[in-house]
Amino acid sequence: MTEPLVFAHRGSSYDLPEHTLAAYLRALDEGADGVECDVRLTRDGHLVCVHDRRLDRTSNGHGLVSARTLAELEALDFGSWHPGGVPADGDEVLDDSRTRLLTLDRLLGAVRDAGRPVRVLIETKHPSRYGGDVERRLVALLRRHGLAEPVPDTPVQVTVMSFSPLAVRRVRELAPALPTVLLLDVVPRWLPPGRLPFGARIAGPGIELVRARPRLLSALRAAGNQVYVWTVNEPAELDLVLAAGVDGIITDRPGRALARLGR
Ligand code: G3P
Ligand code: CA
Repeated sequence: MTEPLVFAHRGSSYDLPEHTLAAYLRALDEGADGVECDVRLTRDGHLVCVHDRRLDRTSNGHGLVSARTLAELEALDFGSWHPGGVPADGDEVLDDSRTRLLTLDRLLGAVRDAGRPVRVLIETKHPSRYGGDVERRLVALLRRHGLAEPVPDTPVQVTVMSFSPLAVRRVRELAPALPTVLLLDVVPRWLPPGRLPFGARIAGPGIELVRARPRLLSALRAAGNQVYVWTVNEPAELDLVLAAGVDGIITDRPGRALARLGR
């Protein structure tokens, strides 16, 4: 059986504040095959790595991410809410990699600088609200990094993910060679049987859905899809998806998953 790829969900986000550069560098140090990142647009059109629509949970700011400019967001603290974002006894003074907003541009630069093959899963958040702007800006940024038309043996490989079939279709139209994941938190009516719509090559069911629908993984794979499951943090969850032979797992604790895989 092929071993699954291990992706760090929002970076090594159990140990360090999610979506910070420090969380991603930790994941790369731990040996993750790839990283997962949610992206949103700022008011002035920059793609930033933030999960929630609002700033309140993961920063000292308030209100909508989309209502702020990049400069305004860069003035906020995105790390101190998390135990890993504040110095512990004996720590050196922390640099700002645990607290500063991360742009997708900077994350792609850091991944390229890793000097080894790394996969990047980019999830576009709330495409219906942005009316396609997030996908257009994402593909333009990937083109600037030379990542929208992947060539074989390129060290950095990007895959775009969304819960929205519409977003998957937009990415497919803008950059047909980019692999896409259709994320699933419910079983859509067209399953089974089925290849995914709009050229998505990979299905991304959540672990709760996998537990609730025991035949889902085999149905997806039998229809010829690859499968990446999120968010697989507990050993029993890992055993469940390994037994099903999935292609990728997305986890907050890549170091622990890799250890369990003997890597
Ligand atoms: O990797 C997919 C997963 O991240 C989707 O859920 O809410 O963590 O973005 P969420
Ligand atoms: Ca996500």
